[in-house]
Parts: sequence; structure tokens; C-alpha cells
Amino acid sequence: MPPPAPQAEDLQVELRQVCLTRGATVVLDGVSLSVRRGELVALLGASGSGKTSLLKLINRMLEPTAGAVAVEGRPTTEWDPIRLRRRIGYVIQDAGLFPHYTVARNIGLLLELEGRPAAQRRARVDRLLELVGLAPATYADRFPAELSGGERQRVGVARALALDPGLLLLDEPFSALDPVVRARLQQEFAALARELGKTALLVTHDLQEALRIGTRICLLANGKLVADAAPDDFLRLDAPEARAYARAAGLGAAPQG
Ligand SMILES: Nc1ncnc2c1ncn2[C@@H]1O[C@H](COP(=O)(O)OP(=O)(O)OP(=O)(O)O)[C@@H](O)[C@H]1O
Ligand SMILES: [Mg+2]
Repeated sequence: MPPPAPQAEDLQVELRQVCLTRGATVVLDGVSLSVRRGELVALLGASGSGKTSLLKLINRMLEPTAGAVAVEGRPTTEWDPIRLRRRIGYVIQDAGLFPHYTVARNIGLLLELEGRPAAQRRARVDRLLELVGLAPATYADRFPAELSGGERQRVGVARALALDPGLLLLDEPFSALDPVVRARLQQEFAALARELGKTALLVTHDLQEALRIGTRICLLANGKLVADAAPDDFLRLDAPEARAYARAAGLGAAPQG
């Protein structure tokens, strides 16, 4: 029996037949994707396959050329973009911290924009730093240039969590890390997302990362969603693009039978 159709209130994100053209490039071509509350979707695809563009459609930094994108059951074009973005935590590719602001100010920026009092902001920032494993006393007053790449990425994650959004968009948040730190951060993040009950779409180039933390793996190629599967099933898919990923990661398909 097929699983029951998701209830509208369970659907955090829905793309329906989405096409996106940027300049002369057809970036996305008929992509449909429904993400339910609590899912952690790993989004794979080669460079230029449209992963970042797909995230930007969700927080309305881009609008589809055709088709529709809905968040919490409502088309993004009907949301006030500022309100929408404050409900969605966004970890920008390469962390995107403001270099002339301290770590604390970077993390607390949205709280500042929301008019939260300074003492409340500081308490929240300290809590967020602890959550991502950075001691506030050591890190709060540093500038981004005084951090390692991994620490910067943690600050990016903390900033995305500042307003306690139910939905997180993370664009290669662990890309520039050595394999050991990376594996630890991936595990910590997956546990954190579970614990806090977040829904997340996480972009990655790395199948191992997708398998480690995704509850579901989606693969973009040539503007189309060519695979959408649970981690356990992904390695058994027939789609040539999925098989190429598995081979490149040294994870050939298990023998059929
Ligand atoms: N501002 C823009 N104007 C025109 N084309 C763009 C623009 N930004 C991106 N593109 C094109 O859109 C396509 C998808 O870009 P996108 O950034 O979504 O890819 P990506 O999958 O995130 O790649 P990467 O893994 O390198 O980050 C690419 O062909 C890119 O050249
Ligand atoms: Mg990108």
C-alpha cells in the first residue's frame, strides 16, 4: 500500500512542477518535491546543477519561471518576503558572515532587527554558541577572520537558528572541513536537528555526508530531480546519475537478488 498522502499542515515545503531560468540558462526543469515536517533532505548534484537556486526559491530570493513553490501550505509569492525569511534559517554557501561584526553580533543580527532587548539577545547568542559547541567566553567577541573555517561554519549554523525557525536551508555548511571535524559536525548537526524538531534541506556534493545525515536524499541533474529516495534505497537506484555518485564514493550497488 502506498503511504498516506501527507496532510497539508505536515508539508513544510512544496515545489510543484517548478521551472527556473536564469539568464539564458534553464536551471530547473519541472522539479516537484514535497518536504514534510521533521525531514532532513540532503540535496545532491554536480556544480551548477541548481542546488543553491532551489534553496533560494524556498525563501523567495528567487521566484519560479513556471510552477509554484509553497512554504507551510502557502505560495511564496503570497508571503511577505521579510516575514518568510525570518521563519527560515539560511546557512549561506561559505557561511557569509559580516567580517566587520563580531561573532556575537553576526549571530544576533536578526534578533537586533526584530527589536529584541540587548540583554535578551546576549543570552540567546550565548545559548546558540553553546549549542554549536563554541564557548561564548572564547568566541563571542572575535571577528570572523579570527576563526577557523569550521568555526565560521558553526557560527553560520548558530546564526540560522537565532529566531528558532522550524525550517532550515543549509548550503554546503560543512564543505571546507577536514574529514574528522566534518564527520563530527555532521553527526552533531543531525542530532541537533532531530532534538529541536527541525525540518531541513541541506545541500552537499558529498554522498557520504548525505547518507550520514539525510532522512532522504534528492539528486539534481540537468535541471531535473533524477533521484529521491531514503538513504537505504539510494545505493540501489537504477538512475545512472545516482549510480555514478555511488561509484565515485566507492559504494557500488549491492548485487541484485
Ligand atoms: N545570478 C545568476 N545569473 C545567471 N545565471 C546564474 C546566476 N546564478 C547562478 N546562475 C546559473 O545557474 C545555474 C545553477 O547555479 P546554482 O548556483 O544554483 O548551482 P549549484 O548547484 O548551487 O552549484 P555549486 O555546487 O557550484 O554551488 C548555473 O548554471 C549558474 O551558472
Ligand atoms: Mg551552490
